[in-house]
Amino acid sequence: MIRDLYEVIFRRRDVRAEFTGAPVDPAVLDRILTAAHAAPSVGLSQPWDFVVIRSPRIKEDFHHHVHTERDVFAATLTGEEKARFDRIKIDGVRESSLSIVVTYDPARGGPSILGRHAIADAGLYSVCLAVQNLWLAATAEGFGVGWVSFYREEFLSGLLGIPAGIRPVAWLCLGPVSHLAEVPDLERHGWRRRRPLSAAVHDDRWGA
Ligand SMILES: Cc1cc2nc3c(=O)[nH]c(=O)nc-3n(C[C@H](O)[C@H](O)[C@H](O)COP(=O)(O)O)c2cc1C
Repeated sequence: MIRDLYEVIFRRRDVRAEFTGAPVDPAVLDRILTAAHAAPSVGLSQPWDFVVIRSPRIKEDFHHHVHTERDVFAATLTGEEKARFDRIKIDGVRESSLSIVVTYDPARGGPSILGRHAIADAGLYSVCLAVQNLWLAATAEGFGVGWVSFYREEFLSGLLGIPAGIRPVAWLCLGPVSHLAEVPDLERHGWRRRRPLSAAVHDDRWGA
């Protein structure tokens, strides 16, 4: 059981190219969303919502916007870096079976959120934990997930009718995949390498 958890953690990948587009069993989707909804949250605020997107029209509009933003980022690059970025696929919006947009409502739970008075971002952290639960549950189900963040929040809120005050935090492509890559795409393309754990762990004081 413990081994299974570690196996899923290390097998998880961010997916763009490997989606098959095969249908998602509603019972499986329900299990994945139930896992996301079981995440810890500051003051038990559960500030997330999940918008399940199947509409080809919405996906198409979003995909178009993502590629406009891709161009915005590409324009900040030059030389070899730009050439490398040009080869990287940054989303599977069209290819994945469905998408899930995870949102954050800072007003959920009233004004007195236990544990958030000094750190407003604790609400956002909670939403990210729901995303990670979703990601791991989907991986355990044999699915892939791809987080897409090449978008402007105002655009996505307008597209999905998200009310003012509620923030879209993640657009997640989800569905069956041909396989999960062993190495992250960005590493495979030579964009960036993972740092070793030893560089991230400090003893007692920063830098030690
Ligand atoms: C907040 C967040 C936003 C991300 N946005 C994108 C994105 O827009 N496009 C993309 O291709 N990957 C995106 N990723 C995936 C990362 O590039 C990926 O997690 C990282 O390269 C490590 O690979 P792995 O998840 O397969 O281990 C995002 C990941 C996170 C956590």
